[in-house]
Amino acid sequence: MSWEKDYQSKLTDADKALDFIKSGERVVIGHACGEPSYLVETMVSKAEQYENVEIVHMVAMGKAGYAQPGMEKHFRHNALFVGGTTRKAVSEGRGDYTPCFFYRIPALFTNGSLPVDVALVQAAAPDANGNMSLGISVDYTLPAVRAAKKVIVQVNKELPRTYGDSTFHISDANVVAVVEHDAPIIELAPPKITEIEKAIGANCAKLINDGDTLQLGIGAIPDAVLMFLGEKKDLGIHSEMFSDGVVGLVEKGVITNAKKTTHKGKFVANFLMGTRRLYDFVNNNPDVEMYPVDYVNNPVVVMKEDNIVSINSCVQIDLMGQAASETVGYTQISGVGGQVDFIRGASMAKNGRSILAFPSTAAKGTVSKIVPLLDEGAAVTTSRNDIDYVVTEYGIAKLSGRTLKERAKALIEIAHPDFREGLKKVYEERFHCAY
Ligand code: COA
Repeated sequence: MSWEKDYQSKLTDADKALDFIKSGERVVIGHACGEPSYLVETMVSKAEQYENVEIVHMVAMGKAGYAQPGMEKHFRHNALFVGGTTRKAVSEGRGDYTPCFFYRIPALFTNGSLPVDVALVQAAAPDANGNMSLGISVDYTLPAVRAAKKVIVQVNKELPRTYGDSTFHISDANVVAVVEHDAPIIELAPPKITEIEKAIGANCAKLINDGDTLQLGIGAIPDAVLMFLGEKKDLGIHSEMFSDGVVGLVEKGVITNAKKTTHKGKFVANFLMGTRRLYDFVNNNPDVEMYPVDYVNNPVVVMKEDNIVSINSCVQIDLMGQAASETVGYTQISGVGGQVDFIRGASMAKNGRSILAFPSTAAKGTVSKIVPLLDEGAAVTTSRNDIDYVVTEYGIAKLSGRTLKERAKALIEIAHPDFREGLKKVYEERFHCAY
């Protein structure tokens, strides 16, 4: 059968397509801005017909209706990351969080830990050969498609088509239903950048050289860093994700990828979150290569990229350099994501460097993020052995190669001035010496 006939035979409406999900099955939903919102919302509207369906999802950018009160009998959320729409469900016990480095998530689908019954994904319309691109969300989504017993696809013409390894074929035997539904792709507006974040960005920029390759985490800080790179030359991107901030630097000729060791001349990422400007930039752009996360984030792949600089953030760091990036005390507020994947990869790369950058205080200036001890219940995301540099609006602390005393001092010097005296007292008690 030609792929066109296959496509027609699998074409159906959302209501019928979602009947392929059976009670007790595990459903993996496409990640972040690539989420197939129409399918997810239709599934939630049919909740009464399901019992105990496990929903595995990482960054949920849609409404996450399956995690809302009243859905407990029908859906159980197993979060691989916790965000705004799923935080309450996990903290109130209606959902669970599974700790796992991002690059290892695809292995969970194939090693017997989390076998996939159904993958619910969004794809661009097939190309001339019947290949369907997952566009901006390849990450664990393509591995889930490959591992699933049943794949239900929302075909959306608004989704960019991307290069790299982002496609599956409409004739794959596990693709059981195709639903055509065009709708705007979920967008993430550029974050508001305050004076504090600008100061952090300027400090991070001091650690970045011409020709470096960057990994940028999520949020205002990566965008603030990009604002201060306008004078650099030939930067490259090998990153879990990137956002709109990168497009401006391409237009200015700052990001060329020309000096990269691997994938010379190309952007490499596994997912993208931004506005239509970003999505138009990547659409059918052979300079942007999207691959699954077990390739992009694999520390063994990252380490091959000379001069890679990883820039991420955390919630709290203690005086030894242990960073909590995903919990506030006992409360899981996000996930490990690719933070440690890239910190470890950068540490093994020739001239690789890792940075944790964050404002010195949280909760409107009332608490210091640099603390004597992590809060009770906090998970250590990045160990004290892993971090190279810590950056706040007050400066740069180099931790790698430094003794416990030296690193504590370096961290106190970049803490908010209101908290430095208290931290100095802790230093004197702990190390039995004057500061
Ligand atoms: N004490 C109490 N609350 C704190 C806190 C602290 N030390 N630090 C942060 N918070 C609260 C904030 O007030 C905020 O609460 P709100 O949502 O109710 O306003 C919340 O925690 C999130 O903090 P915020 O500073 O707004 O987060 P952010 O958007 O800058 O993201 C991380 C920071 C650390 C959560 C984020 O970078 C992350 O999830 N990192 C781990 C994953 C990762 O690094 N991936 C990298 C590749 S993409």
